[in-house]
Amino acid sequence: MRRIVIFDTTLRDGEQSPGASMNLEEKLEVARQLARLGVDVIEAGFPITSQGDFDAVRLIATKVAGPTIAGLCRTLPADIDRAAEALRPAKKARLHTFIATSDIHLEHKLRKSRDQVLEMAVAGVKRARNYTDDVEFSAEDAGRTDPDYLCQVVEAVIDAGATTVNIPDTVGYTVPHEFASLIRTLRERVPNINKCVLSVHCHNDLGLAVANSLAAVLAGAGQVECTINGIGERAGNAALEEVVMALNTRASLFQAETGINTREIYRTSRLVTDVTGIPVQPNKAVVGSNAFAHEAGIHQHGVMQERATYEIMAAESVGVAESRLVLGKHSGRHAFEKRLRELGFELSREDLDRAFARFKDLADKKKEVFDADLESIVAHEVHAVPEEYSLEYMTVVAGLEGYPTATIRVRRGQSELVDAGLGVGTIDAVYKTIDKVVQVPHELVEYSVKSVTGGTDALAEVTVKIGAESRIYTGRGASLDVVEASAKAYLQAINKLVYYQSQGR
Ligand code: KIV
Ligand code: ZN
Repeated sequence: MRRIVIFDTTLRDGEQSPGASMNLEEKLEVARQLARLGVDVIEAGFPITSQGDFDAVRLIATKVAGPTIAGLCRTLPADIDRAAEALRPAKKARLHTFIATSDIHLEHKLRKSRDQVLEMAVAGVKRARNYTDDVEFSAEDAGRTDPDYLCQVVEAVIDAGATTVNIPDTVGYTVPHEFASLIRTLRERVPNINKCVLSVHCHNDLGLAVANSLAAVLAGAGQVECTINGIGERAGNAALEEVVMALNTRASLFQAETGINTREIYRTSRLVTDVTGIPVQPNKAVVGSNAFAHEAGIHQHGVMQERATYEIMAAESVGVAESRLVLGKHSGRHAFEKRLRELGFELSREDLDRAFARFKDLADKKKEVFDADLESIVAHEVHAVPEEYSLEYMTVVAGLEGYPTATIRVRRGQSELVDAGLGVGTIDAVYKTIDKVVQVPHELVEYSVKSVTGGTDALAEVTVKIGAESRIYTGRGASLDVVEASAKAYLQAINKLVYYQSQGR
């Protein structure tokens, strides 16, 4: 079995998904979960691009043990120095430097000749090697690069000290047999290729990112770059969970294995959904809500007789616990804490207090509390910031006739802020009234609602994104009542805006 290196770039390429920006605390939480998942490398950010990215790489390099922490940089000296500075506290640091190699990028973006780019690639790797022995070089747009030139660049950067060489299909243009053949060409024609780990980084523009990555593994690639839920620039990157479960389920075909603890996959996926606000489609492989659901009678019957008839992997192997009845209104704190631990949540005392209060509240109103409800409670209570504004009172009047009306009282420190307003619908009335009450300038970017379990008494989960000064703040709220969940999500987003702006972020 070959050991495939799993390089996770959820916090860098994944964060480049439109609307996926995460704040510092959220990035640290995701990085800690990636470490629990067992990824080999966490690409924590692109430090030269912003102070926020620099701080995230620095914080993760300081606090997250286990995986190697990587920082992205172009081959420019200032980029490399800045990334090295951010990575300084890491026990295991990797500098990941890149430059485009396709003619289309050379001509229109870089305006440089092939020789100039080759020189920059070599100089970048050499400079990076002054900081660390672990240097990765990426030939951006390798999928559309002339193979002869690519071989030349790869040979030169390995000579210059690159220990991993990454072949990105930056625009998701290639198809599996073609991409595999590129990997084989490099392995056959680059004389020093065995001195590096050959890596791939596939984008999903044609829906082929995972297929291309797997074809590359069969052709000899030793590292796969991927993201949780496949998020990333445009149509995203190869989904980590799909790559890993394909290697795992078809181990004898691939003759390869990873260091991933697959039972942490589902929880990691949920966390990334929660912090980015980007939902996973129900039929998404491995982590979608229907991935292990059998609808057709024949299938259900088959699975009941023998699971292998229609299931190629067990739900438990990716950490999807059956959503079963767990706790009720008589359950105490001890049982609540124990179940959360079984579900893999280690909460601080403060978060646990908040989550338990929410659980009691829910169990009073809803007879059956499922694991999915508990996960939702944790997701919504743990990502909270200090509550500058808290909802104290809300009535909403709506009917077939007249205008939906909301009356709202919000507490801010010692003050009570009260107002009423109209809207074209109930949520509109609530949001307009909250705007009048809090007077925090922003715009609503996105609103979405989903139900956590089935039935009309299910928890509603609302995700709201608001924008201010070109930053996005995500708020989430969960309640048995969709209007209340909406108000909570909106106020949480506003509280985040106020909090992070006060911190200069
Ligand atoms: O898609 C790409 O080419 C990249 C590189 C920076 C690795 O993200
Ligand atoms: Zn990319």
